[in-house]
Amino acid sequence: MGMRGSRILLGSLVLVLLLGQSLAAFSDHFTAVWTPEHILPDDASNGVKIILNQNAGAQFASIDSFLYGSFTVKLKLIAGDSAGTVCSFYLTSNGANHDEIDFEFLGNETGQPYVLHTNLFANGVGSREQRIFLWFDPTADFHTYSVVWNHHQITWSVDDTPIRVYKNIEDKLPNSYPKAQSMVVAASIFDASSWATRGGAVPTNWANAPFEVNYKDFSLEACTVRNNDISACTSNYQANWWESAENQALNSAQASALRNVHQKYMVYDYCKDQTRYSTPPTECAYNAV
Ligand SMILES: *[C@@H]1O[C@H](CO)[C@@H](O)[C@H](O)[C@H]1NC(C)=O
Repeated sequence: MGMRGSRILLGSLVLVLLLGQSLAAFSDHFTAVWTPEHILPDDASNGVKIILNQNAGAQFASIDSFLYGSFTVKLKLIAGDSAGTVCSFYLTSNGANHDEIDFEFLGNETGQPYVLHTNLFANGVGSREQRIFLWFDPTADFHTYSVVWNHHQITWSVDDTPIRVYKNIEDKLPNSYPKAQSMVVAASIFDASSWATRGGAVPTNWANAPFEVNYKDFSLEACTVRNNDISACTSNYQANWWESAENQALNSAQASALRNVHQKYMVYDYCKDQTRYSTPPTECAYNAV
């Protein structure tokens, strides 16, 4: 509490949510974007579940929006046949030239591995996809997925293992880093029969609907932007814990864990896709592991 108080004294508005969670607490912080009737409390996990059937998927998003912070959720993905479906946990700004930081989970046939797809949009430009397999069955239990976004880098982690880092190289490549637009935290489930599973070869089998994904234990420790005034998050930001030295670069153990994930589990990296980019995009050299 003392630390949190000092952060506030230093000028940042910090929202800490550790939702355990009742639907009332959930509704205090999140709102339905599509299909409210597909967003339901899940008593077994004390979290929420969102549902896809042939009529509709669902999406919810945070009421507040943020500029820099640490964003964590525990997720249990669709068990059994999830081919053709996608679930997500992401940050996105609203409006033109948007920024976005994504986790997307591409479903698969029973017994076949989910793919975790990540992407980063800055000023409306995305096309920075990476894909990995996970080293565990993400449908068997809850696992922790988090993004730490600060002035230096964005780190995507799974159960505390970094799976991707994206550096701020605005000084060398302007408009390549999300830095001036606040983002909401969002989650969704939708049909992506045309592309999700083996490139679209396996569409959603509606005989297995409804598809359900579980979310719990949201933790958003972040700088809240109010009335579109980002200055509270762009000045005096150094005191926020997610800006600290250990969040500005991976340490050697984290770097070797990241290398291990890329060596063993990576299935796609835009930086290595010579069909799309005959020379890798500029940021790739800075993000190499
Ligand atoms: C689904 O399983 C197939 C076969 O193991 C694999 O090639 C593919 O990458 C998996 N994931 C998706 C999303 O297609």
